[in-house]
Amino acid sequence: MADTDGNIDSHDYYLDTPQTDTPLPLKGCNSLDWGMKNRLANIFDPKTGRTVMLAVDHGYFMGPTTGLERIDITINPLLPYANTLMCTRGILRSTIPPGFNKGVVLRASGGPSILKELSDERIAVDMEDAIRLNVAAVAVQVFIGGEFETQSVHNMTSLVDAGNRYGMPVLGVTAVGKQMVRDAKYMRLATRMCAELGCTYVKTYYVEKDFDTVAAACPVPIVIAGGKKQPELDALTMAYNAIQQGAAGVDMGRNIFQSDAPAAMIQAVFRVVHENMPPKEAFEYYETLKNTK
Ligand code: R5P
Repeated sequence: MADTDGNIDSHDYYLDTPQTDTPLPLKGCNSLDWGMKNRLANIFDPKTGRTVMLAVDHGYFMGPTTGLERIDITINPLLPYANTLMCTRGILRSTIPPGFNKGVVLRASGGPSILKELSDERIAVDMEDAIRLNVAAVAVQVFIGGEFETQSVHNMTSLVDAGNRYGMPVLGVTAVGKQMVRDAKYMRLATRMCAELGCTYVKTYYVEKDFDTVAAACPVPIVIAGGKKQPELDALTMAYNAIQQGAAGVDMGRNIFQSDAPAAMIQAVFRVVHENMPPKEAFEYYETLKNTK
C-alpha cells in the first residue's frame, strides 16, 4: 500500500544545508554525462583522481611477449592490486575472471603485427561489443607523424563519436614510431591533438625534460605508459616524476609483469601513484614485499 501519510507529513528537507555536489577530481571532465563519469570512476580512484592501469594488451600486435605467455598464471594474481586492467576482448573473454569488478579498458584498435607498418591500424571492436563486455573505456592507438597518421586519427574520432553516443570514455594512446623523437614537443603535439579531437583521456610516454609542459597543455587527464623494462628503481622514479609533474596515473605493463617480483612491483607503483611515495622509499617497500614469502 502506498505511504500517502508519510508523503504528506514529510519534513526533513535540511533547509539550512545546501545540496552536496561531489565532482570527480579529474581535469577537463566536469561537463561529461553521469554515465561516462561513472565509468571513469572505475578507472580513476574518485578520492585521489589517479589510476594504476595494468596494461596487458601487448599481444594484439606482439603475440605472447615475455611475461604474457600465460595471462591466467602471471596476470590474474595481480588483479587485486590494480585500479584497472587494459586488455583485448580475446583475453577478457578467455582468461579474466568475470568476478573482476574494477574497470576494464578495452583495446579497440589493431591490424598490423610487429612484422608490418604499425600505424596502419583500424578500429577493431564495435562499440556494441564494448558495452556487452561492460568495459569502462575503449583505447585507440594514434600515430601522429606515422605513415598512416590520418587513418589512425580517423579511427580515434570515429570511436569518440560512438563513445559519446553511449557514454563510453575513449583513451587516446599516443604511439611513437621508431623514427620519431620522443621529446616534450612531440608529446605536446600528440596528446593535445587527441584531447582536441575528443578523447576523454590520453596515454603518452614520460619524457625527462619538460614533461610538466606536456601535462599542462593537455586539457584532459594524462597517464604514462611504462615502456620497455628498466630496473625497478628507475621505473618507480619515472612514475613518481610523472605524477609530480601532472600525470593522473600510469598505464604500466612490462615494468610490472617483467619485474623479478610483479606483485611487489605493482604494489610499490600503487603507493607512488596514490600516496606520492618517493621512489627510494617505494623501492624499499618493493624489496621488503619481494623478500617476504
Ligand atoms: C602497447 O603495446 C600497449 O598500448 C601497452 O598497453 C602500453 O605500451 C603500456 O605498456 P608498457 O608499460 O609495457 O609500455
